[in-house]
Amino acid sequence: MRVAVVCASHYGATKGIAERIGAELRLAGIDTEVFDAAEPPHAEKVAGFDAFVVGSAVYLGHWLAAASTFVRHHQPTLLEHLVWLFSSGPLGTADTDADGVDLREINVPAEIADFSTTVRPVEDRVFFGAIDPGALSLPHRMIRKFPGAAEKIPAGYFRNWPEIEAWARDIARTLVKAPR
Ligand SMILES: Cc1cc2nc3c(=O)[nH]c(=O)nc-3n(C[C@H](O)[C@H](O)[C@H](O)COP(=O)(O)O)c2cc1C
Repeated sequence: MRVAVVCASHYGATKGIAERIGAELRLAGIDTEVFDAAEPPHAEKVAGFDAFVVGSAVYLGHWLAAASTFVRHHQPTLLEHLVWLFSSGPLGTADTDADGVDLREINVPAEIADFSTTVRPVEDRVFFGAIDPGALSLPHRMIRKFPGAAEKIPAGYFRNWPEIEAWARDIARTLVKAPR
């Protein structure tokens, strides 16, 4: 069983999630490689994997282009294999917005509706993310200056490692039971 974890990350928070998922899968005895979606494996190599975990940071409601491109480019292969999708994600210490709605639900990126039918993932998950305001590009800093934006995009590290590790262990359990 060989698994590819492919992620698109602007500042590294999502890459960290992908690496943690990869580490958990390896701990479960699964041969796992982690790739940056901006430098994806070539098609022949992709065809050699039995399952895929694909994730992206979310910006303004969308996945980063490199992750979407990977899914669209390899859609026929992905559809024939077990696929999990993840996104990162909401920020802050509250799980819900002012109306009590789960931030993970509100922040499901636009691409997931499409991918739900085109690659039929076993599951798609939204995890809380992280931003370091000092590391942001000028356009991203400008966006955070819009009225109300800084409250919606608070700075800090909000990745929930136990939740991420538990999800990876669920994936491992499914893979161990899956027919080759
Ligand atoms: C300008 C800007 C816009 C963002 N838009 C969203 C968004 O629409 N939805 C969301 O859940 N997170 C959003 N985020 C949060 C980050 O994408 C998220 O926390 C992520 O973990 C960053 O990952 P990266 O370091 O891998 O790029 C935004 C962050 C910034 C700076």
